[in-house]
Amino acid sequence: MRLNITCIPGDGIGPEIVTQAKAVLNAVADRFGHELHYTDILMGGASIDACGEPLTDDAIAQAKAADAVLMGSIGGNTSTSPWYQLPPDKRPEAGLLRLRKSLNLFTNLRPAFLYQELRAACPLKEEISVAGFDIMIMRELTGGLYFGERKTVVENGVRKAVDTLTYDENEIRRIAVKGFDIACKRKGKVTSVDKANVLDSSRLWRKVVEEVAADYPDVTLEHMLVDNCAMQLVKNPAQFDVILTENMFGDILSDEASMVTGSIGMLPSASLNETKFGLYEPSHGSAPDIAGLDIANPIATVLSAAMMLRYSFDLDREADVIETAVQTVLRDGYRTVDIMSPGCTQVGCSEMGALLVKRISE
Ligand code: IPM
Ligand code: MG
Repeated sequence: MRLNITCIPGDGIGPEIVTQAKAVLNAVADRFGHELHYTDILMGGASIDACGEPLTDDAIAQAKAADAVLMGSIGGNTSTSPWYQLPPDKRPEAGLLRLRKSLNLFTNLRPAFLYQELRAACPLKEEISVAGFDIMIMRELTGGLYFGERKTVVENGVRKAVDTLTYDENEIRRIAVKGFDIACKRKGKVTSVDKANVLDSSRLWRKVVEEVAADYPDVTLEHMLVDNCAMQLVKNPAQFDVILTENMFGDILSDEASMVTGSIGMLPSASLNETKFGLYEPSHGSAPDIAGLDIANPIATVLSAAMMLRYSFDLDREADVIETAVQTVLRDGYRTVDIMSPGCTQVGCSEMGALLVKRISE
């Protein structure tokens, strides 16, 4: 199979982790006889420095022309980087939001899985971590507060800022359908998270999710308020299968869920539209403080590449091989510094990549 992949190395540790993910993809392609074509585009700070804006029209066109996009991370230190002196719509993150919107990537899948090998890194009590957990956070990605009208004004000498949270029923329905579809392939439970005791947008969310649920009699639906969900994620994460939620709640809850797994450096993500096209990126950020030190954990990006093979190319066997390689390397005791524990062997970013390639190639 011929796979056309656009890569966005991005900022901070992005280029290092994408290099390792490409090495892993190349090893899989060699083993299974696929032909990979990569095109790199700039986004975020790298694009600001080179082109004066965080994402150019040309870069969007190149991303659209690909079968899938593999991304590292974007952004810098918000207190010290000159990128954050720019107006908000010219900053690195604006590039990512624009790309998501331009490609209509409304479904964001963020698995939070506790590897038993990494249980020691889980910050929860042992009686909770021993039960393990495997959660799929499904975050609506192109609506809500992050895309509503916003402005900052001065009224009668008082500074005032306004952000708007809007959802229409179609936006809710299409993500809900995806959520129920995924639940059918998992444990068959959807927890829809909202703030229906306060927000109109959440009350509509709840109604539409219930309408969609009627078409999925085999899936159990429960509703949970977002504040309670934040608490339940640390109290009893094993209760969750699919968490279905809107943009901002999903942003916050997915960071929380990833921390509960022990390392955000392990978690991939996929952002999908109605077609097979997707953008695949680690759930973590650009970690500018460790950029260039060859100590970043490439596994989240490697697992994002596996999700790409699975969701955009239907190459399940190839994706399984990558996921098994990750598990084997962990079982053999290799760790990057973020997941290091006593008795294990600490390796850097490129060495972790090489270990994965070796397991895939042998
Ligand atoms: C994420 C990030 C982004 C978001 C930022 C960088 C705009 O936090 O992917 O979770 O909020 O969506
Ligand atoms: Mg986030």
